[in-house]
Amino acid sequence: MPRTYYIATMGCQMNEYDSDYVGRLLQEACYLPADAPEAADLVLINTCAVREKSEQKAFSLLGRMLSLKKRRPGMILGMMGCVAQKRGRTLLERYPDLDLVLGTRELNRFSEILQELEKGEGGLAATELSREPAPTVIKKGFFKGRVKGFITIMEGCNNFCTYCVVPYVRGREVSRAPHEIMREAKYLVEEGVKEITLLGQNVNSYFHHQEQKTGFVDLLRMLHRLEDLRRIRFTTSHPKDLTPELIRSFDEMEKLCSYIHLPFQAGSNRVLRAMNRGYTREKYLDLIEQLRGNRADMAVSSDVMVGFPGETLEDFEQTLDLIEKVQFDGLYSFKYSDREGTRAAGFTNKIPEPEKIERLAELQKLQKSVTFERNEKMIGKVVEVLIEGASRKNDQITGRTSNNKIVNFSYNNSIIGNFIKVRIMSACANSLRGEIPCVTD
Ligand code: 5AD
Ligand code: SF4
Repeated sequence: MPRTYYIATMGCQMNEYDSDYVGRLLQEACYLPADAPEAADLVLINTCAVREKSEQKAFSLLGRMLSLKKRRPGMILGMMGCVAQKRGRTLLERYPDLDLVLGTRELNRFSEILQELEKGEGGLAATELSREPAPTVIKKGFFKGRVKGFITIMEGCNNFCTYCVVPYVRGREVSRAPHEIMREAKYLVEEGVKEITLLGQNVNSYFHHQEQKTGFVDLLRMLHRLEDLRRIRFTTSHPKDLTPELIRSFDEMEKLCSYIHLPFQAGSNRVLRAMNRGYTREKYLDLIEQLRGNRADMAVSSDVMVGFPGETLEDFEQTLDLIEKVQFDGLYSFKYSDREGTRAAGFTNKIPEPEKIERLAELQKLQKSVTFERNEKMIGKVVEVLIEGASRKNDQITGRTSNNKIVNFSYNNSIIGNFIKVRIMSACANSLRGEIPCVTD
């Protein structure tokens, strides 16, 4: 009987990439994917530590998996990702039934660790942060049937925003070699992937010293030349590294999608300074203007926080004002939470929880109407949509425009993976409804 595995992924797309990386190694070792943890011989929980709530979710899932293991004693249970990195070996002391703690920069050692686990050794912890990026793993057929692919091109972060745990759980910035990235991109395209998203905590600070010094835009140009690759996206960008050259790329490279995720975090210069963000609201607004000037259909989404220590009502008003000025297509908004070890955790003037809740509700109400208005602007347009699959709602097909809008319409599954022209008929809160006027390919 072949052994089976199940990976539960929480958090960001970088974690999804890491889960697929480990999945490829497991399939190389002849494991088969299971549909549920109850049916798996090996279960991994890939965790996120960015906010307090993410970490709580990781521990509640760990609790459930530990009780599953009590009922199925042969099961191997491991934790990976940012919570594993942050807590390290202490997890093994607290949860003796946990077999493995795998840090964020230890993926290249996974095959070796798996052999030890199979010999019946438990209580393993691998949490070095200084390791080089893991080499590309090619497992033919792993991505078959997927329309979209992800490639982590750089890891870690050197920015030390005062609220953020990432530099501590993902280490310092390190960029993967361009030939490794190209090899992985070609592999994804051969598997049938049409759209690739380049990933990094700070993706646009990508820089590789060897191989004739490759910057982020150089890498984009190299990918742009891949014939069967139709769309390129990247996330997450930092405003301070958004160079004029990168902004011009949207003019130069048609495969680059008309969408950018550009976190602003706060609209007040005083708070931005306390956060150590390295830009002002004026600079941020200027960048948005330049981006939209280059492409009329450019969509922008962002991350923002309310209730940073010392945030006054005036500061908060400045955040609302920036939201009104920019008119984001989408916004991920959070209540500030203390993260152990960060500078902001030691700041005084903490904002009381009820106040944070109130500010978040007000902000989300404003953005809801902005998102809807932005979606309404698409009505009547004929746009090219990459068909991703069946929609969650009955007998609908779902796809995405270059500017990252989800479009649902009636059709059958036969067109999954194709680019189809769709006329936008109406707007909903987070998606659009369309109709097919004609099939292009
Ligand atoms: N509290 C609340 N939100 C946070 N984020 C990062 N750290 C914190 C924190 N301590 C948010 C930021 C970031 C997103 C991934 O999570 O907005 O861009
Ligand atoms: Fe969460 Fe950040 Fe880790 Fe991604 S890198 S899983 S967002 S803490």
